[in-house]
Amino acid sequence: MVHPHPFPHRHLLGIEQLSPQEIGTILDRADECVSISRAARKKRDVLKGLTQINMFFESSTRTLASFELAGKRLGADVMNMAVKASSVNKGETLIDTAMTLNAMHPDILVVRHGESGAVNLLAQKVNCAVVNAGDGRREHPTQALLDALTIRRRKGRLHRLNIAICGDVLHSRVARSNIHLLNKMENRVRIIAPPTLCPDGIERLGCEVFDSMEAGLEGCDVVMMLRLQQERMTGGFIPSHREYFHRYGLDEDKLSVAKPDVIVMHPGPMNRGVEIDSELADDIDRSVIQEQVEMGVAVRMAVLSLLAEGLTGERAVA
Ligand code: CP
Repeated sequence: MVHPHPFPHRHLLGIEQLSPQEIGTILDRADECVSISRAARKKRDVLKGLTQINMFFESSTRTLASFELAGKRLGADVMNMAVKASSVNKGETLIDTAMTLNAMHPDILVVRHGESGAVNLLAQKVNCAVVNAGDGRREHPTQALLDALTIRRRKGRLHRLNIAICGDVLHSRVARSNIHLLNKMENRVRIIAPPTLCPDGIERLGCEVFDSMEAGLEGCDVVMMLRLQQERMTGGFIPSHREYFHRYGLDEDKLSVAKPDVIVMHPGPMNRGVEIDSELADDIDRSVIQEQVEMGVAVRMAVLSLLAEGLTGERAVA
């Protein structure tokens, strides 16, 4: 009997389309990939012969570096397109750029773009698998998956946890992907944000909304802080950094109402002293921020290998 592949998707465009079982499949595969990354010799040839192009229209350190390392560790030919030096600067559109690269026969395109929905549109035009590395305010699926892997490894489970997502939710694709994922896995999700940075109707995604850290952090198992995305702000969303830190910045005092074994997360890059106290961010008893970075490589290896299996019909990581 032929078993259906456990990840029957051509692309990874968001968490919204995934079932809890498919999320579990990615995380189980990522656990295997952690061992590969921790080994002295990290190279596998499961993506050998496949071409991966990373096309980032917005800045990135973690996501771009980890997709590049993930592809290389699994043996793919990886090309990072230098968008700033490309013909995008001469006015070439996203779709024309994508179609140009498509004509070079890549197998996987990893794309970050500033417009919500741009990556989905591109996926309809090209012949290869497409991975969303963050689109506008919509989704950042591999970030939510790496956060989930970090939580599952630290807490021993990924269900029935109280998880607070705090800060600039309005501009955050990380928040949206995490809300989808954590709800699918039956957690209790709380949003803590100032009214100016809290999207209208966010509770319809299945979360409780608080505008006070003290009330929202009570009894939490996990606290995820979000970056204040000043590059996307045109008006006066906050009175000042000092006032924002006073009311919404995470420090030991605010965290004291959470559970004693609470973990602190941040997707990075951090604004130290604005959304999180610098010492707390470096406190290895509480902060799992560096572990999130490590899990990022593993999750991206898992996603690339599962998509490759869809392309080649062979199990990639053994
Ligand atoms: N968390 C995240 O997406 O970081 P980068 O912007 O550095 O990729």
